[in-house]
Amino acid sequence: MTLRVAILISGGGSNMVRLLEDMAEPGHAAEPVLVLANDPTAGGLAKAAAQGIATSVVDHRDFKGDRAGFEAAIDKVLRKADVDIVCLAGFMRILGADFVGGWEGRMLNIHPSLLPKYKGLHTHQRALDAGDTEHGCSVHLVTPALDDGPILGQATVPVQEGDTADTLAARVLKEEHQLYPKVLREFATSLKAE
Ligand code: GAR
Repeated sequence: MTLRVAILISGGGSNMVRLLEDMAEPGHAAEPVLVLANDPTAGGLAKAAAQGIATSVVDHRDFKGDRAGFEAAIDKVLRKADVDIVCLAGFMRILGADFVGGWEGRMLNIHPSLLPKYKGLHTHQRALDAGDTEHGCSVHLVTPALDDGPILGQATVPVQEGDTADTLAARVLKEEHQLYPKVLREFATSLKAE
């Protein structure tokens, strides 16, 4: 049986597109069943719909001051879709321990740094400010602590003379597009074999 994947996004969803493309390949252990955004204007929603993937919006602005309610609403959609694996792909809301605990060992995130370096935001600028010669991205299992779970894969890029946060981000994003599908593929294959 193919494992059912939901992808959570907040924006343009270029990583989401890559995950969808890879799961469309024959023999993949997982299939996309849902793309969910916390923002109705997320550009990735239309891209997912164009691929025939069901989409859903749980707008965080409808839950001001009620993160538990926001997360319960997301959880309900995921459970209804009978999801096995959740992929955070540019999902920019922090998720609490209750929600995360419910998906323990089954929720992946991509983060634009070589974790454990630069958890949180502005990772590219922070790598530049630190004078790093190498930067990159990580895919990890999500645990309640932000950007902290077991690392499943990383890719590195060189920091080049004259880089700005934008040029560096673009170089890292290219690697994200290779890394995330590869890690999800391995993860789904091993989960299916359990
Ligand atoms: C990606 O660089 C991803 O690693 C980052 O947001 C971008 C989303 O791009 N995620 C985070 O910073 C998570 N805290 P995308 O929407 O085109 O995939």
